[in-house]
Amino acid sequence: MTASLPRFQLPLPADDFLCKHWQKTPLFMPGAATGLDNPDADTLAGLALEEGVEARIIQGAGNGPWQLQQGPLEESVFDRLGEENWTLLVQSVDHFLTDTSLLLDSFSFLPNWRLEDIMMSYAAKGGSVGPHFDRYDVFLIQAAGTRRWQIGDVCDDSSPRQPHPDLKLLADMSVREEFVARPGDVLYLPPGVAHHGVAEDSDCLTWSVGFRAPDYQMLMAEIAGECLAEADSELFSDPDRVATDNPAVLADADRQQLVRGALDLLRPEAIENAVYRWLSTPRQDGLEFAVDDHHIRSRDAQIKLVRHGSTRLLMQGKRVWLNGEAHSLTDKQRPLVHLLASQRRYTHNELEAVMTEAAQELLHEWIEQGYFAPL
Ligand code: SIN
Ligand code: CO
Repeated sequence: MTASLPRFQLPLPADDFLCKHWQKTPLFMPGAATGLDNPDADTLAGLALEEGVEARIIQGAGNGPWQLQQGPLEESVFDRLGEENWTLLVQSVDHFLTDTSLLLDSFSFLPNWRLEDIMMSYAAKGGSVGPHFDRYDVFLIQAAGTRRWQIGDVCDDSSPRQPHPDLKLLADMSVREEFVARPGDVLYLPPGVAHHGVAEDSDCLTWSVGFRAPDYQMLMAEIAGECLAEADSELFSDPDRVATDNPAVLADADRQQLVRGALDLLRPEAIENAVYRWLSTPRQDGLEFAVDDHHIRSRDAQIKLVRHGSTRLLMQGKRVWLNGEAHSLTDKQRPLVHLLASQRRYTHNELEAVMTEAAQELLHEWIEQGYFAPL
């Protein structure tokens, strides 16, 4: 069988999935993913040692104790782990290994801005990150080995936790469902659902496609930052003041003028810019990691161009946001950029259908800057 690029296929119509499961109930999908042979354990371990790559190791099993080692990791750490009960976790692998990011095209039934990244875990027999819940939707894709998933109830911040200072592990988890995931099996979990996955054998590799659910407090901070960066400094002034008979209080008119002056800084255009900038910024910058063009070409000869795994694009009318920066587009450039923003791999025919001289120039610039790679 020829190796293929990673792919996921919902076993039911997307609208049915969204209506019955998305943000609501777990769904186990046996054999829903293929092409998960890259990276292997050695490549993942090598990536975990690279500067700028977020990685951690969790050791423990059963009722604990649990131990967390945060990256950056030293190579010698792997010699000390032993044969059982540890897990290596590497965040945003899709940002660094572009071929893995191509899996994300399989999730195009959801808007791209909603995707966060692909985390990968590699576990020895018995390895687990402990019983916990995540605040985000996640598709847990078994790439190699076997993992037993226990699923519990919906939890929140008030659910009792184990006393570990850094790992937010649940103190007790009633098991409601159990699944054994083998290569190609996919488990969807909505936010808040308790789960506990234990590697049943060594070489247990699991991909987690995680979603971005903006935290409104953080969004507000982004909006405030953008508005302040764009605003001129303007001070309260009161040239028409008349004498007060009550100097002890803040008069209604003064209070209203102060609040209005501050809120006027929240200009609609700056607010929109903050939203687009934030949603088009990748979780991590991995542009210095070269695209493995040989690997991709040998799996799909039709692909002539790929988007680097660390490139995020979001269309906004006549503009596009690329990794947090807005670019104005001409009518001749827009069809190409819309294609580039819609998917991550492009065939000759797809590109030819939207190519103009102005579009070619822009694409050249973005290839030079590493956002796209020709194959
Ligand atoms: C894992 O892959 O071991 C853990 C992923 C998760 O439970 O979210
Ligand atoms: Co989890």
